[in-house]
Amino acid sequence: MATNYTLALELVGVTAGYDRSEILRDVSLSVRSSSVLGLLGRNGAGKTTCIRAIAGMIRLSRGDIRIFGESVAALPVEEVIRRGIAVVPQGRRIFSLLTVKENLAVVQPACPPYAGQQWSLARVVDLFPRLGERLGQRAGTLSGGEQQMLAIGRALMASPRVLLMDEPSEGLSPQMIAEVARIIGQLRDNGLSILLVEQNSRLALSVADNVALLSNGEVVFAGTAVQLTDDPHLMEAYLGLHAAASGT
Ligand SMILES: Nc1ncnc2c1ncn2[C@@H]1O[C@H](COP(=O)(O)OP(=O)(O)O)[C@@H](O)[C@H]1O
Ligand SMILES: [Mg+2]
Repeated sequence: MATNYTLALELVGVTAGYDRSEILRDVSLSVRSSSVLGLLGRNGAGKTTCIRAIAGMIRLSRGDIRIFGESVAALPVEEVIRRGIAVVPQGRRIFSLLTVKENLAVVQPACPPYAGQQWSLARVVDLFPRLGERLGQRAGTLSGGEQQMLAIGRALMASPRVLLMDEPSEGLSPQMIAEVARIIGQLRDNGLSILLVEQNSRLALSVADNVALLSNGEVVFAGTAVQLTDDPHLMEAYLGLHAAASGT
């Protein structure tokens, strides 16, 4: 296994969508090993569709998807997960009637040699002490922030090499958003490769090493966060952020 391969995830000329509607057009992206790629774009730009394509939930009509250099484009979802991809879905999708502990136990782990660092219940509780205090509690009774921690913890239980996060800040308080940003930075520093899909540009720009901008299913910018924030045209045209309001 080429564990020192520098690109953790690559999309190469990906065209994909639903039935007869083509959503993603010729999308090329890459997430470097142990880094965060922020994928930004307005509602309906195709960010979630991109995650579905990577996870094998929708088929590609053209292009390729590679994890550490190996194509996963033709594999079913279970196989993609076994190869070390884990998803924190938009809207969290935790099992609200199951306890916190049960939510963390239902995960199918990635298979060696495709697994990343090994995660366990103890390690998740170490990262999220609040979950540890609520292991026996039904997940549906948790606060929004705690549910997001559970969704992240559940994905980590798969011991992934690459984590796909779909709008983890959605519906959270500024304080919880800062906490999510801190966790993402910590996971990256521990060696995880992360695709962070966000409408919250400020969060993504604060934590991402590189950013890509999706508009109408096409990549209209790829570069560093600084390159993006230094371009008032891009900031305004695709993110609706004016220079004065963007805090830069
Ligand atoms: N299951 C689906 N079937 C058909 N069209 C869909 C489906 N899900 C999303 N779309 C369409 O794909 C486009 C991109 O949606 P999505 O990937 O959810 O965008 P984003 O996550 O950036 O908000 C939208 O036009 C949306 O209506
Ligand atoms: Mg979405």
